[in-house]
Amino acid sequence: MTNLHQLLVERRSIRKYTDQPIDHETVKIILEAGLLSPTGKNARAWHFIAVENKDMLLRLSECKATGALPVGRSALTICVAVDVTASETWIEDGSIAAAYMMLQARELGVGSCWIEVNGRLAADGTPAEDVVSELLGLPEQIQPLCLIALGIPDEERKPQNVEKLLWNHVHCDTFKPEQC
Ligand SMILES: Cc1cc2nc3c(=O)[nH]c(=O)nc-3n(C[C@H](O)[C@H](O)[C@H](O)COP(=O)(O)O)c2cc1C
Repeated sequence: MTNLHQLLVERRSIRKYTDQPIDHETVKIILEAGLLSPTGKNARAWHFIAVENKDMLLRLSECKATGALPVGRSALTICVAVDVTASETWIEDGSIAAAYMMLQARELGVGSCWIEVNGRLAADGTPAEDVVSELLGLPEQIQPLCLIALGIPDEERKPQNVEKLLWNHVHCDTFKPEQC
């Protein structure tokens, strides 16, 4: 079992994956991490759509003009979508679930990358949310927030450099503008 702090230091966005599939027990544990995440007023209004179909992954990778290529290369991508009528903290709730799943993935040796959907545009100007909702058949009130691309890493990323953390963005008692 990896130490949590070590996991936080070592997690990096992984955008290249081998052709190896992720076994379904591993996928289940990653999804369980999302289901274990906290939500405002315990709304638990998120939905996780796990996509493995290659053609669908390629189509999802075109949901926005740039930055979604890892989805097409992934072994599996999880769309994090939230019922916006059931939670006024839907962005926070979906974001925490996504972060939990990414950390769980890393702990299991699976690389991941957050692909933003909310507020982004496809090459033809269509909102990325509309493209994803249409492809995945999401009801109107269930808004896609992001796609988490997953796969066995095919690239090496250095851990974070703890010497370069922004400690000047940490303030004691009151905000200190001179630190910024
Ligand atoms: C809210 C959010 C949106 C992001 N959107 C994208 C994206 O659309 N495409 C992408 O390749 N990476 C995306 N990323 C990954 C960031 O680029 C990455 O986390 C950042 O550069 C730090 O690198 P690291 O994750 O390797 O530490 C996103 C990350 C977050 C938290």
